[in-house]
Amino acid sequence: MKVAVLPGDGIGGEIMAQAVKVLNKLALPLELEHAPVGGAGYDASGDPLPAATLALAREADAILFGAVGGSKYDALPRVKRPEQAILGLRKSLGLFANLRPAQVHDELAGASTLKPEVVAGLDVLIIRELTGDIYFGEPRGISMRADGEREGVNTMRYRESEIRRIAHVAFNAARKRRRKLCSVDKANVLETTELWRQVVSETGKEYADVELSHMYVDNCAMQLVRNPKQFDVIVTGNMFGDILSDEASMLTGSIGMLPSASLDAHGKGLYEPIHGSAPDIAGMDLANPLATILSAAMMLRYSLNHGVVADRIEAAVRQVLKQGYRTVDIQEAGRKKVGTQEMGAAVVAAL
Ligand code: IPM
Ligand code: MG
Repeated sequence: MKVAVLPGDGIGGEIMAQAVKVLNKLALPLELEHAPVGGAGYDASGDPLPAATLALAREADAILFGAVGGSKYDALPRVKRPEQAILGLRKSLGLFANLRPAQVHDELAGASTLKPEVVAGLDVLIIRELTGDIYFGEPRGISMRADGEREGVNTMRYRESEIRRIAHVAFNAARKRRRKLCSVDKANVLETTELWRQVVSETGKEYADVELSHMYVDNCAMQLVRNPKQFDVIVTGNMFGDILSDEASMLTGSIGMLPSASLDAHGKGLYEPIHGSAPDIAGMDLANPLATILSAAMMLRYSLNHGVVADRIEAAVRQVLKQGYRTVDIQEAGRKKVGTQEMGAAVVAAL
């Protein structure tokens, strides 16, 4: 089994090194091949998604991705910016289904900025559509109007088929959990999401055993901090999912804890932490590698057919948290603060 390892920028290299340490410990027949992506890709070849990196991602059985971005690249034209690498990978590989589980480990219930009783035991799965919506809709751009004023345009678009296929993923995921699905939209204002609501409801007729509800995105943002345990699976579009998943991550104590899987129609996937490249702490051995390590576990489960090994990695992460290991992003007094490498080593030791 071949895994494309794409560390990217900022803290990407440091967190990925820990995930690789964990994978190497498992004695699986994995071939790990590294390639530059994002700002690193641009530095290496003038393109954030170099052709060789895309080719490797295509031929690999799975992709493990770190993070991209950095202020050094902010002045580049949009097509050369690091973010284009992840957007390009998602689009060219058809990775339309993004699974972002937010679970509160018992050990971290006190680390959330919310009251422990609000978050303890939380287990919500956000399913974000990843290859459509305003992220990719045309027309887009910044242009000069006839009256001399600049104008920016992006287009929120969804085809029926795009909504239906992510709805199926969400209903099937709900079936394997507590059979509750909440579809999030802004159907009171936006026609695109009015269609979203219609198509999700139509699809729901095939899943009578799943309880379907609909919620406006503004209300959902509020409900996630008011009473997050009301949710089992949330399904939503690309942009709302981007925002809500960052919000949900803080319920778990730190954005440094959340893994994600981005799957195509055949189970091939790209796995990445939901956090960014955190240039402010890059190279300082401060970043939390757990989201990347947990992403590697998701990769073993969803793309490489090694669910048992994935369980072992997740158990090892729970164990190091129980032992009191914390990176600095987890705000909890009286705990042993460790760096990126020591956290990775603790997971390897637990394995
Ligand atoms: C994410 C990130 C990306 C996104 C950026 C880096 C393009 O925020 O994966 O959530 O907006 O999708
Ligand atoms: Mg995001």
